Amino acid sequence: MSLISILKRKNRKSLFTTPSHDGKLCIYHKFYQWYRSDISEVDAYNPEEALEKAEAKAAQIYGTKSTDFLINGSSSGIIAAVLTACKRGEKLLIWDKSHPCHRNAGMLTGTEIVEYELPFNEEWGVFEGLNNIEALLDKHSPKAIIVTSPSYEGIVSDIPKISEACKKRGVYLIVDEAHGALYPFSDELPESAVKYADFTVQSLHKTAGGINPTALLHCNCELDTKSALKMITTTSPSYPMLSTIEANINYLNSKKGRKKIAELISEIKKIKSELTNLDFYGDDITKILVKKHGLSGFKLSEIFFDKFNIEDERTNEKSTMLLTGLGTTKEKLRSLLRLKRI
Ligand SMILES: Cc1ncc(COP(=O)(O)O)c(C=O)c1O
Repeated sequence: MSLISILKRKNRKSLFTTPSHDGKLCIYHKFYQWYRSDISEVDAYNPEEALEKAEAKAAQIYGTKSTDFLINGSSSGIIAAVLTACKRGEKLLIWDKSHPCHRNAGMLTGTEIVEYELPFNEEWGVFEGLNNIEALLDKHSPKAIIVTSPSYEGIVSDIPKISEACKKRGVYLIVDEAHGALYPFSDELPESAVKYADFTVQSLHKTAGGINPTALLHCNCELDTKSALKMITTTSPSYPMLSTIEANINYLNSKKGRKKIAELISEIKKIKSELTNLDFYGDDITKILVKKHGLSGFKLSEIFFDKFNIEDERTNEKSTMLLTGLGTTKEKLRSLLRLKRI
């Protein structure tokens, strides 16, 4: 039975167990349904078995050895991957501008952290992908390397090539694909790292329509992520959140979900082709990285906010980025045509 159907099931037992709200005392009424679905590991529901099955089904969908559902974001997936791949004192390579969870993962594991730099694109104010993997691995001989792909702004690295170089040298590859959770479900987006990397982490909440902070940890090597996850995860998980992950993956993998991603991409293509007064860049069309000749990224961001009521996701000296995702409607995208007036 799926997690979703377990939470729908009417329980006939009288539960003298946690949680103490008992599914009836609803202290904050806005979340009434949440309280009703918030169960513990009681025999009457047996949600652990349903979770195991849901994760096994997800592994089949993604083509991985294992896929873990995370309810503490990609941050926890990165930490679990490093705890799994490395031991105290072993070398971990991280990008010097990486998300803080990369360094935290190395520190919690007790690794020797070595930072690498990425080429900087002066014209757009963003970092490019990793292009010197062999030299980097040969110089440092790490146990594992974390590569962020895509970057926040949608720049991807050549993961198949990086994976080959890592495999040749027995280095574990951990890919932070937090911003690429849609990739396995569209041929028009960059190829996902899921099949190449030893560990891939994706945030469902960032682009794939998931609620904060749902995420996935995919493993495609001989190691087992379970004991690391146990070390950093509560023993009282939120089954409502976990069931949204199950539903989220089912949706992404469905005809309807794939069609929705295709429509999002096709609409962005149209909008971009009409906004001839602006320049665009990046490998991932869903992250609209934009600049305007003669304006700084910060000025453009200010104009978006003050004159068009648009808040962007991230801005630098040269460009700014509008993030779109599964929930971005056609109407919202079409409203960007107003930007012709800039
Ligand atoms: C590149 C990158 N990796 C990891 C994370 C952490 O993701 P989460 O918020 O799901 O923990 C973020 C969050 O912004 C990110 O930008």
